[in-house]
Amino acid sequence: MLTPVLSAHWDEADSFSIDGYTRHRGYEALTKALATDPDALISLVKDSGLRGRGGAGFPTGMKWGFIPQGPEGQGAKPHYLVVNADESEPGTCKDVPFMLANPHALVEGVIIASYAIRANHAFIYIRGEVTHVVRRVQEAVQQAYAAGHLGKDIHGSGFDLELVVHAGAGAYICGEETALLDSLEGYRGQPRLRPPFPATHGLYACPTVVNNVESIASVPSIVLGGAEWFSSMGTEKSKGYTLYSLSGHVKKPGQYEAPLGITLRQLLDLAGGMREGRTLKFWTPGGSSTPLLTADHLDVPLDYEGVGEAGSMLGTKALQCFDDTTCVVRAVLRWTEFYAHESCGKCTPCREGTYWMVQILERMEGGTATEADIEILLDTCDNIFGRSFCALGDGATSPIVSGIKLFRDEFIQHINGGCPFDPVASTVFGGVKA
Ligand SMILES: Cc1cc2nc3c(=O)[nH]c(=O)nc-3n(C[C@H](O)[C@H](O)[C@H](O)COP(=O)(O)O)c2cc1C
Ligand code: SF4
Repeated sequence: MLTPVLSAHWDEADSFSIDGYTRHRGYEALTKALATDPDALISLVKDSGLRGRGGAGFPTGMKWGFIPQGPEGQGAKPHYLVVNADESEPGTCKDVPFMLANPHALVEGVIIASYAIRANHAFIYIRGEVTHVVRRVQEAVQQAYAAGHLGKDIHGSGFDLELVVHAGAGAYICGEETALLDSLEGYRGQPRLRPPFPATHGLYACPTVVNNVESIASVPSIVLGGAEWFSSMGTEKSKGYTLYSLSGHVKKPGQYEAPLGITLRQLLDLAGGMREGRTLKFWTPGGSSTPLLTADHLDVPLDYEGVGEAGSMLGTKALQCFDDTTCVVRAVLRWTEFYAHESCGKCTPCREGTYWMVQILERMEGGTATEADIEILLDTCDNIFGRSFCALGDGATSPIVSGIKLFRDEFIQHINGGCPFDPVASTVFGGVKA
């Protein structure tokens, strides 16, 4: 059921070192790629069916193909590859453990992807709070330079690449790709108006590919294994293996690398199930920005289409599982506080709406709300969804709208008599609010 590729050697003591990586065919894909025409590499990634693992599932090869492919130095602008390693969505915890355990797969993927899109400069933009991960990736980059995998005339191919590791300053919005580019350029991280898109006007207004860590790290395995091998895993429209992150009230939380289309029921079996004596109450398929699902959705195939049909989104495959001790109103309030805090303030619906939604949810949790507040909450969500400048606003409405849809009675119960849950029984959202 599991298909460990990115996580195949995480249990080895030196999995993060260049020696540990090369012992398992590390940097072999680079040699193969440098002997291949860049356009053929783009076709290979297109044929593999790899879709972006950063949340939206956009086909990676197609994104690379949007970069205008004129030869550099003849009036064409430079091209850039930017790896999005900001990973700040609540519940999402795959890129950080991956970069700690296997940073060279990312570095090798960056070199191959840069060669394919004809970029001579690449950046890895890492969430700044995870200093240990920043250091680990920096060390991997230094080792790759020392081994001749980076720098001038890589392995005599004539291809040059400089790779810079950049630490962000800790803002969720800097994971949004255009805010990330502004932040990387030294400005305050706020989303840009699109069009123009990064493919033509990205970093320093030059053609830029922005890809998630896992998307780029999957590339060496595709180069080595071939498009057919990769697309033999997964479902019709969602190909390959991926990292599913189980967290919350499960017995064995962690990363489970499996083909797209596996179900939560199967993953929970692997994770030992919910904690003793408890049942699953609700879960997020892909972080807090994806609408909640319940135990009725245990057999939904966890691919882009299956989760979409169930009324949610696959997102980052961050499966946060909450058992029957969890107060849904409290969970939704915590997430909404996060969005209000992280709203960049650029547009009114999100800036004002998230602030007001926190006030209303606090009234609910405190037992002083009225039933009209439920409608006000839904109306506010209606005014944010589709009317905000970027997807953070849309995401902020997901827990509220889905929470009320699935658990309206529990919201009404809070209004009529306060929170019925023991504040310390739940270890995830437990504790009395200060
Ligand atoms: C508020 C917000 C935060 C995001 N955070 C991340 C992130 O931390 N990492 C990531 O890869 N994508 C994140 N994204 C999605 C990126 O904008 C972009 O779609 C992604 O990096 C593209 O990579 P992919 O095609 O490889 O998935 C975020 C989007 C939004 C709206
Ligand atoms: S939706 Fe929120 S985060 Fe996005 S631009 Fe508007 S205020 Fe900023």
